[in-house]
Amino acid sequence: MKEGWFEEKIEKISSIGGYQKPELIQDSAKLDSNENHVISKQFQNDIISSAKKVSDIREYPLGGVERLIDAISKFVKMPSSMIGIGNGSDQILDLILSNIASKQTTILTSKPTFGFFEERCKLYGISLISIPFSNEMKLDVNDFVKQSKKADILYLDSPNNPTGFQFSKNELQKLVKSFNGLVIIDEAYGEFSDYSLARMVKSTKNLIVVQTVSKSFGLAGLRLGYFIANKKFTDVFMSIVQYPYPVSTITIESGIQAMEKSNLMNDAVETIKIERKRIVETLQKYDAFEVFDSKANFVLFDAHGSYKRVYSALAEQGISIRKLGKIGDHEGCLRVTVGTKEMNSKFLLAIRDLLG
Ligand SMILES: Cc1ncc(COP(=O)(O)O)c(C=O)c1O
Repeated sequence: MKEGWFEEKIEKISSIGGYQKPELIQDSAKLDSNENHVISKQFQNDIISSAKKVSDIREYPLGGVERLIDAISKFVKMPSSMIGIGNGSDQILDLILSNIASKQTTILTSKPTFGFFEERCKLYGISLISIPFSNEMKLDVNDFVKQSKKADILYLDSPNNPTGFQFSKNELQKLVKSFNGLVIIDEAYGEFSDYSLARMVKSTKNLIVVQTVSKSFGLAGLRLGYFIANKKFTDVFMSIVQYPYPVSTITIESGIQAMEKSNLMNDAVETIKIERKRIVETLQKYDAFEVFDSKANFVLFDAHGSYKRVYSALAEQGISIRKLGKIGDHEGCLRVTVGTKEMNSKFLLAIRDLLG
């Protein structure tokens, strides 16, 4: 091995840049990371205290993963043999890329797409064909079909982060059926949208649908994601790629509890959808903004030349949103997470004071 190879490798990796975490603004209304503050604090207190009662973390969680998978299986109404789990859906996506893809792989996706996924592709030297969003922040399914033959993997976050866009179910189903390689549909925000492709996995061997408890269940800190895929892939993933104890005992037991209380998640999702509409409609009233429709728990808007000013003014008032800047021809994109009614009102009032 050539001397200095390690330093060279690290130098090469450092040039990738990596994930930009949002700024930590103390005691702010946190509307920057698509978390769910609508689901009550009581929900997490309950699931964690029940989890604590049945956990003994001196031991490895033997049999725990299987029980968690059974609970997820009941929730998604798909067989346990078709469900795998990971330390957040981030880790599932990462393990698929690092084990299934290679430097020879080409992935077809949108521009923008989920930032972590894009960064991981850079890390592994995987090339991307990225189809840009239109000026209306929409995608044309025909653009994807045209490029399909050139790609080995199709990755779409459905709905998309950061635009909130989702293809119609019909269009996405057609695209998935026409794609011969591996299809990864990332439904991190699926519960806030109109449909899921999970059921399609039964008839589509090359489809992996990835979901998470981070958004709809408001359990981002638990780090639990799962996927639905054909039995063979699931077996290989859970017994060779990802084993033996991928998530902690506390995550397993809390995850089981959460699945049993999914009615509380559904209530929170309904509130978020109503609040999303309120945010979109209110922001649309300002000529200074261009607001895009969203099927997720956040809203993207272009504040044009004043986006930095809007971002800083909100931050000064303890409201943290995401500053994205240029997306396509849109110069000043900002993304706001749909929070509780109070958080959203604080955000909208601050906007009114600034622009009204
Ligand atoms: C599209 C998309 N996929 C996956 C994730 C990661 O979710 P998890 O918390 O399960 O790792 C996110 C988080 O923001 C996301 O936006």
